[in-house]
Amino acid sequence: MAMHSDRRFVNIALIGFMGTGKTSVGRLVADQLHFEFLDTDDIIETQRGLTIAEIFSTDGEPAFRGLELKLVGELASRTKTVIATGGGLPAQPGNVSGLKTHALVVCLWASPEKIWERVKNQTHRPLLHDPDPQKKIRELLAAREPFYKQADVLLNTELRSVREVAQQVVHQFRLESSRR
Ligand code: S3P
Repeated sequence: MAMHSDRRFVNIALIGFMGTGKTSVGRLVADQLHFEFLDTDDIIETQRGLTIAEIFSTDGEPAFRGLELKLVGELASRTKTVIATGGGLPAQPGNVSGLKTHALVVCLWASPEKIWERVKNQTHRPLLHDPDPQKKIRELLAAREPFYKQADVLLNTELRSVREVAQQVVHQFRLESSRR
């Protein structure tokens, strides 16, 4: 990881598509490192006083993306925090570079098929309220792939348990922190 000598890794940001396990993994990582855990969707719901689905239907997706962008700015003052981000947050220009000013950015990866398996019985995600949710997943994932790949670490979650993924994240964080 050359060119990172000016980075400070005081936090961990988990990025990745819906259903890749950012929240479950993030909670475990935070426990292990004695860090605080934050979820950007939860913060936005609290700030706005509405659920994500309500924000999408009342304010619209662009307004939601604006709230994400503003929140990324606010997160720069955090230390010792594991931040699980909404699946679309990294796809807005500036958000990944903003996270990288203070966090090791780890992307959790899974195939569209695996993602579908994990999300198909859940109803809280407005973007998947679509006549063909599997196609929607494939399209969104393809469009977002270049953004997800800006992460410092890419972790395939398909053949790993939540616990194993969390261990990998902790390991990578310790490795990177000890390098500087
Ligand atoms: C979204 C993912 C969701 C949430 C919103 C939009 C997306 O977060 O931010 O429904 O654009 O992929 P999760 O990845 O936590 O489900």
